[in-house]
Amino acid sequence: MTRVLRTRVELSQALAAVERPVGLVPTMGWLHEGHRSLLRRARGADATTVVTIFVNPRQFNQASDYTRYPRDEGRDLAICAEEGADLIWAPSVDEVYVPGFDTTVSVGAVAEPLEGAARPGHFEGVATVVAILFGLVRAEHAYFGQKDAQQVMVIRRMALDLALPTEVVACPTVREPDGLALSSRNVHLAPPERAAAPILHAALLAGRAAWERGERSAKALRSEMQRVLATEPMARPDYVSCADAETLRELDRVDGPCLLSLAVWLGATRLIDNELLP
Ligand code: PAJ
Repeated sequence: MTRVLRTRVELSQALAAVERPVGLVPTMGWLHEGHRSLLRRARGADATTVVTIFVNPRQFNQASDYTRYPRDEGRDLAICAEEGADLIWAPSVDEVYVPGFDTTVSVGAVAEPLEGAARPGHFEGVATVVAILFGLVRAEHAYFGQKDAQQVMVIRRMALDLALPTEVVACPTVREPDGLALSSRNVHLAPPERAAAPILHAALLAGRAAWERGERSAKALRSEMQRVLATEPMARPDYVSCADAETLRELDRVDGPCLLSLAVWLGATRLIDNELLP
């Protein structure tokens, strides 16, 4: 049976009685197949699955992005129940950020480029809320999507540095049949923007194909991705990156694991995607 909890106290009381290990799936709601895949992964590995649904105001660098973020709690709760989640924590903002709350978790170098540079304060917001969730739930495992590759790296660094006992598990990106990575933000795409959106994945696959043909110049791989993006007039690239998969520093030559990633505007919606090489 799925139980919905609202307060920190309710959550702690419920957790005291559950079977271990516990798997945590943090979300901001508006659940889709990507979230479902994390829930299934947790269910397969842990005795108890805890989902959190919280649209975290601190990680939105634009107030308008926060207010227009899609929300439908009734539907989210039904999906969690369908996927067999045991506990759902869906708190209010005041329950997460208690009165007087005055701590920010700030991760260093790995949080600086890419999404960190494009969205100042974003990863502080993410790291802070995830540290709170890890502290409250004290799960054995927490599941995150590779769709947000830099987020996984930031959270791994944070958990290691702060000695939080939760193991961070990265799960593969779930895509639409045409390659578009599922995202809550896809709902904002107007039909022509939706039709153009698979260009992100196409560009990443072109980058991968060039790498598979033996191209090892990072500049050439970026150019190849940019070339494909340029075939779609609606796509306005924000960044196109070929970076070291461990440090996220931009590469000159690709001689080891590397993360191809991009952020692209389609109208008023900004989409991100990535591909890990090899
Ligand atoms: P949200 O965007 O709701 O995503 C919740 C989790 O689902 C994240 O780990 C994200 O990477 C994963 N996810 C999203 N789309 C996916 C896809 N297409 N395939 C696989 N996994 C996917 O990410 C957040 O929320 C927040 O930053 C959060 C970690 C909850 C902190 O507030």
